[in-house]
Amino acid sequence: MESFLIKGGVPLQGAVEISGSKNAALPIMAATLLTDEPCVIRRVPDLSDTRFMVEILESLGAAVMFENGTVTVHARKIRGYADYELVRKMRGSICIAGPLLARLRQARISLPGGCIIGARPINLHLKGFAALGAKIKIEGGYVDAAAKKLNGATMFLGGRAGPTVLGTANVMMAATLADGVTVIESAACEPEVVDLAKFLNAMGAQISGAGSPTITITGVKKLRGAEHEVIPDRIETATFMVAAGATDGEIAIKGGCADHLRAVIDKLNEAGVSVKRSGADMIVRRKGKLKPVDITTLPYSGFPTDAQAQMMSLLALAPGISIITERIFESRFMHVSELARLGADIEIEGPSAIVKGGRPLSGAPVMASDLRASAALVIAGLAAKGATQVNRIYHLDRGYERMDEKLRRLGARIHRVEEK
Ligand code: EPZ
Repeated sequence: MESFLIKGGVPLQGAVEISGSKNAALPIMAATLLTDEPCVIRRVPDLSDTRFMVEILESLGAAVMFENGTVTVHARKIRGYADYELVRKMRGSICIAGPLLARLRQARISLPGGCIIGARPINLHLKGFAALGAKIKIEGGYVDAAAKKLNGATMFLGGRAGPTVLGTANVMMAATLADGVTVIESAACEPEVVDLAKFLNAMGAQISGAGSPTITITGVKKLRGAEHEVIPDRIETATFMVAAGATDGEIAIKGGCADHLRAVIDKLNEAGVSVKRSGADMIVRRKGKLKPVDITTLPYSGFPTDAQAQMMSLLALAPGISIITERIFESRFMHVSELARLGADIEIEGPSAIVKGGRPLSGAPVMASDLRASAALVIAGLAAKGATQVNRIYHLDRGYERMDEKLRRLGARIHRVEEK
């Protein structure tokens, strides 16, 4: 197993190119199952998660090529069954259910099960499929959704923590080939949902309202092949912005989209990290001392839960009390005890973490527990004095393309090593 060995204390300098979005690419790759014609998806990040999705598409019978960021899929003839061994590797694979149900009127998928950040049920996905007329059966760890006919329907898809991103994506895809009009109320407004709707419309779907809480889909008889370029990864962008602030560096972000990051840029600004547009780039630098800030994670366009851990590393360096409240996932504070190993002073109280910031961090061996927690540990290691070893970086490789190379180009002393 691999780890990152980081020698901290170097301010990041230079430019970083942002990759395509993992969370947009995954449902867009699944959407290629909706047609028997070839599709071409560009700017797909080379990650273990996108490689898993390729395996899943191939296991369903599609011909797939993935080279230099371009994925070509031809799902001429497919089957409606995805087995546990593949699905368990990646929760995001649940988004093949909608396309299979739409195209084959039948989908049998292993239930994804929980994950370290929360229970993550799929009840809202199934509620949406049932509203379209599918019969749902859960047996032996599998969910079966089947329908002779799918009919458009109006449904409310809001849950305990508000809208569901992949639930909205799944139901939107299922409704593209249903008879009649579907209206999804309390739909997720994330840029990844908008990007998926854009691709589906390029395939001949009729979707309006993506990006707002009300999405309308008018069903069509058939979808065709299409080409699409995936949006930039806003969470990777946020991660590099935070790293620049935490190391007191100055970096230029290339190929990112500031409009997708207003809540993050607003909180960075409040914390003493400025983000300025310069042509197509964003220039990120500290402006004086870091300041404590309160953050609550919310559905888009609120502060993203996927940037919560990274911000905690930054606020551990800001003298004063910051309160971070996690409203989306029940247990997304796995990084707290590992940050404490680097000297951070953080207490958890219910859904909030009380960060008593300002204590200098010092390097130590730490353990990654999930994708964004591992990014937070890398940022803390870059800001800490001495050497930090971040173990189990396979978590990080799920969502960050060549992170160590990109950081080295910014002057960081970080290397991939075999875990002892
Ligand atoms: C997507 O997950 C992202 N994953 C997550 O990113 C991200 O954290 C999340 O959206 C929220 O922004 C991908 O796009 C692949 P949700 P998703 O359904 O769609 C509850 C990362 O780090 N819920 O919007 O699975 C759920 O338990 C990953 O890249 C139900 O109760 O998240 C959670 O509390 C991690 N019932 C909340 O809604 C349901 O049927 C939001 O989950 C579905 C969800």
